[in-house]
Amino acid sequence: MKKVLVTGGAGYIGSHTVVALVEAGYEPIIVDNFYNASPKVIDRLELITKKKIKCYNVDCCDASKLDEVFKEVKPHAVIHFAGYKAVGESVSKPLMYYDNNLTSLLKVLECMVKYEVKNLVFSSSATVYGDPKSVPIYEDFPLHVTNPYGRTKLMIEEILTDFAKVNPDFRIALLRYFNPIGAHESHLIGEDPNGIPNNLVPYITQVCIGKLAKLRVFGNDYKTHDGTGVRDYIHVCDLALGHVLTLKRLDEVTDSLYIYNLGTGKGSSVLDVLHTMEKVVGHPIAHEIVARRPGDIDACYASPEKAFKELGFKAKYDLYDMCKSAWEFQENNPDGIK
Ligand SMILES: NC(=O)c1ccc[n+]([C@@H]2O[C@H](COP(=O)([O-])OP(=O)(O)OC[C@H]3O[C@@H](n4cnc5c(N)ncnc54)[C@H](O)[C@@H]3O)[C@@H](O)[C@H]2O)c1
Repeated sequence: MKKVLVTGGAGYIGSHTVVALVEAGYEPIIVDNFYNASPKVIDRLELITKKKIKCYNVDCCDASKLDEVFKEVKPHAVIHFAGYKAVGESVSKPLMYYDNNLTSLLKVLECMVKYEVKNLVFSSSATVYGDPKSVPIYEDFPLHVTNPYGRTKLMIEEILTDFAKVNPDFRIALLRYFNPIGAHESHLIGEDPNGIPNNLVPYITQVCIGKLAKLRVFGNDYKTHDGTGVRDYIHVCDLALGHVLTLKRLDEVTDSLYIYNLGTGKGSSVLDVLHTMEKVVGHPIAHEIVARRPGDIDACYASPEKAFKELGFKAKYDLYDMCKSAWEFQENNPDGIK
């Protein structure tokens, strides 16, 4: 059974990917410092998979501890999810973001070189496209970032591109995720943010359970079908499967660097999401229109063609499924994963 080291594997996307890896016959091993995840996630992963999930409580920036993990595990591949991800926080604490996101990647890469682990999947983001010249967005569009979080993703893409050029025996995939939402059908794992959610769907579900008063919709004068911002929402379980397909692909290919968008190719507005969630919960959801947020763009959705052609990746869940699973996770875990 191929061992896959999953850094940040207790987090939102990482935990769903661990389930998908087990289902596909891999042995995932988690490295997480639980900065943004509950240790209880591991128990829940064991309940879902009915397997013992090995997990190291290690900070990926800690070179000597990470070295011990690699020495002990000798993985076949690494999926590097570990990192900080809140755009607003990255603006107020840029050094914290550059330090954690860049250092963790560099330490992982150094261990991969030392222990000859040659397959890497990296969590990049659609944020590297900035304000795209048109939609859908193709992988060869120009890249432009507007905040420290986005810059860490772009810098890492550049580091890995430089590295791949001189390490032709490595196989590296940069996955540019669009907007993951939803939760595993068990309702045992899902998006479980600390404090007030930064993302739309957990914000709405917290309004629905009465933790937050109302949703603020930032701007209704964008150039979109209803004036609110359009994004490409993808079910986190579809996204998780994208990682399994990517790992399989890396075992077959000969080039050292691959880039894929992981999205659905469909754009939904803030109001589309809100109205879909209203159908799921069966009642209107309190909201108000407020001013635009600086830096927000009209529309952002993927061309999923390359991932379909080369990975066989196609998202199967629609917006209703995504909202329903997010709501069921919230209802079953009103105070998060405790
Ligand atoms: N969720 C999104 O909307 C989204 C979109 C695009 C890209 N991404 C990227 O995907 C990755 C996973 O995102 P997520 O939504 O699952 O985030 P998350 O915060 O739920 O998961 C990240 C995990 O990494 C861990 N972590 C952070 N720094 C660490 C370190 N130095 N050492 C060990 N563990 C560490 C955290 O404790 C957490 O469990 C991130 O790199 C994020 O930037 C996320």
